[in-house]
Amino acid sequence: MDVQKPRVFVAWQIPEIGIELLQAHYEVTVYREKKPLSREALVKQLQGVVALLSIFSTRVDAWVMDRAPDLKIISNMAVGYDNIDVDHATRKGIAVTNTPDVLTDATADLTWALLLAVARRVVEGDRVMRAGQFKGWDPLYMLGADIKGRTLGIIGAGRIGAAVMERSKGWQMKLLFVNRSPRPDLEARLGAQQVDLETLLRQSDFVSLHVPLTPQTRHLIGAKELSLMKPTAYLINTARGPVVDERALVRALQNGQIAGAALDVFEDEPRMTPGLETLDNVVLTPHIGSATVGARSRMAEMAAQNIIRYLNGQKPLSIVNPEVMEQRTDQQT
Ligand code: GLV
Repeated sequence: MDVQKPRVFVAWQIPEIGIELLQAHYEVTVYREKKPLSREALVKQLQGVVALLSIFSTRVDAWVMDRAPDLKIISNMAVGYDNIDVDHATRKGIAVTNTPDVLTDATADLTWALLLAVARRVVEGDRVMRAGQFKGWDPLYMLGADIKGRTLGIIGAGRIGAAVMERSKGWQMKLLFVNRSPRPDLEARLGAQQVDLETLLRQSDFVSLHVPLTPQTRHLIGAKELSLMKPTAYLINTARGPVVDERALVRALQNGQIAGAALDVFEDEPRMTPGLETLDNVVLTPHIGSATVGARSRMAEMAAQNIIRYLNGQKPLSIVNPEVMEQRTDQQT
């Protein structure tokens, strides 16, 4: 007899490896249209579905969960999970999983690409060349910032923040970091110094953000914080857009309060605050922190494995609300 396979919904086209893994076990529907899926359409798709594979732009809030009675797991193909109401999921006994580690190097690399690009005016120079405006070598032309021996301030010293610090070795930088919990291991391993936010902002030549987006980190960097930074300092954001008050940042850049910024994430993606596009001292990339062939395929694989393991009664590779797992074990025993 043909037994009906559990149904899984994949909310966007992802690397095939993830879809193939799921197809071996489940009846899989993939939303392949390249336009945002509305909440109503998502709910419709979730009827009779036990697992949702979501991406950064899939907003899974209480309204959606309350209308998806069969949902057991939301597997986010991202390390961040601010697109999901985790507390509500936990209350409803829905597991939430994510894909850390597999994108750490890719994201740390992009952070350095942005740091170097903004400090050495790489993108501005590219624009000059394309516009045919290069008039010849000039000792005073397009001078950027020195990097070696300067101070790098990392806000959020988790996996990615630590990987960014590790990569600074070649530039022999002084390392400062801010973190919720003490990290003496990083102080010992990298010679980095844990400080408070104000000290970091006042002393750093490059400030790089690596915190998750939470109610506590929303607008962590606003007008006041930007005013504490050196006028020669740069801000780099590869974390989440709303960690920075983008309008305050535009004002700070326009007023020369800081030297420049490099942003991979924006407050209201895919839009950005007007004014940013006219500033030469800003480098902008379209949320590509984890966008390497390898990282994205590992993320898809891990997101699929999280679903397979959880539905098989095993611990997912990374679970955000393990208490759901505990409740489930209690129920089973
Ligand atoms: C991407 O932004 C992620 O959180 O993985």
